[in-house]
Amino acid sequence: MAKKIKIGLFGFGVVGQGLLSVLEASKSIDAEIVKVCVKSKEKERHLPQGLLTYQPEDILNDPSINLVVELIDNADDAYQFVKTALLNGKNVVSASKKMLATHLAELIEIQKSKKVSLLYEASACGSIPIIRNLEEYYDNDLLQSVSGILNGSSNYILSKIFNEKGTYSESLRKAQELGFAESNPYFDVEGFDSLYKLIIITLHGFGVLVRAEDVFVYGISNISEHDINYAREKGYKIKLVGQVRYLDGNRISLFVSPRLVTPDKYIYNVENQFNGVVLQGLFYDKQFMFGQGAGGHPTGSAVLSDITAQFHDYKYEYKKLQQAVVPTYTTDVAIEVYLRYDSEETLDLLKFESISERYTSESYRYIIGRIKLTKLLSVADDLRTKDVFLAYTGSSI
Ligand code: HSE
Repeated sequence: MAKKIKIGLFGFGVVGQGLLSVLEASKSIDAEIVKVCVKSKEKERHLPQGLLTYQPEDILNDPSINLVVELIDNADDAYQFVKTALLNGKNVVSASKKMLATHLAELIEIQKSKKVSLLYEASACGSIPIIRNLEEYYDNDLLQSVSGILNGSSNYILSKIFNEKGTYSESLRKAQELGFAESNPYFDVEGFDSLYKLIIITLHGFGVLVRAEDVFVYGISNISEHDINYAREKGYKIKLVGQVRYLDGNRISLFVSPRLVTPDKYIYNVENQFNGVVLQGLFYDKQFMFGQGAGGHPTGSAVLSDITAQFHDYKYEYKKLQQAVVPTYTTDVAIEVYLRYDSEETLDLLKFESISERYTSESYRYIIGRIKLTKLLSVADDLRTKDVFLAYTGSSI
């Protein structure tokens, strides 16, 4: 790559604007945004004359642009732009986690055949450099698990509820106003944003590309006063957590769910839009990465890091995909959950392996018991529509 980086930028939302100011403040490389492609002609944009375009081809077909930075919301459009840019021989930086989690297999092949580089540090955990570290430092088989808070908006909402007695809807509205939430916050609060990040983390940490539809995901939108009081009385907090764990038999399991968190856990004090990731390995035990998980400037900083990495000709080698033996993905694992439930039919639907605690009053019923991820996955859509709330207790297998 030429040592002058000429960037074609797709998207000028919270992260695109954050990148512009981060780039202006950074003097480490010679990089300049020469075109910004946006979709909506309605919105006012504060950009220098001549920079703005509504035609993707103005970036994709411009031979003077040697780096495409894709920071848009729509996963289908993002896929088209990223794929075309790579096929046209351009290096790409992307932050589109849903698009990446869905299309990485194909995009990895295109990178190889076209000898180009696609980097996406900003797609997982905002400013925390989790992907580069998994790729470079954790490139051996000692890694046993990666778990943590991967979504800033849901953590912001839960923090407001637990620490400031905020309401769910008011806290969600603030997360949207502050630019943390996705344009469709369903992805944040129902756990899918965390899931896409977890899929990317699993690829770089364990060499397995798991399909989103094969993973149990459950979010925080059904949380009630009963659940909050239950956690408070026991001294717990509730956090939305994604986890991938290595299991015996060279298997891995993953899921996203609210979790009851005791004060001795690193993530207990991770609040607001911050993310926290705990990596556990053989011989080194636990390590903890903490940082801003959402917002224009923190995420823009991760994009800048990828731009400078492109300047230095960096590529992901996908080292874990080259392991002698790649693990297999399984849902045949039991985890212990707290379940506030509405009716005996819900319990019949779930078929717990065992139940260790049960409470029933007129207005509130819960059980604590063990259930297989296979079962949870098969009833996840049903669960989302019921007046129930489920949280992982932290105990598995
Ligand atoms: N909506 C995402 C979050 C943005 O809240 O974490 C960062 O990926």
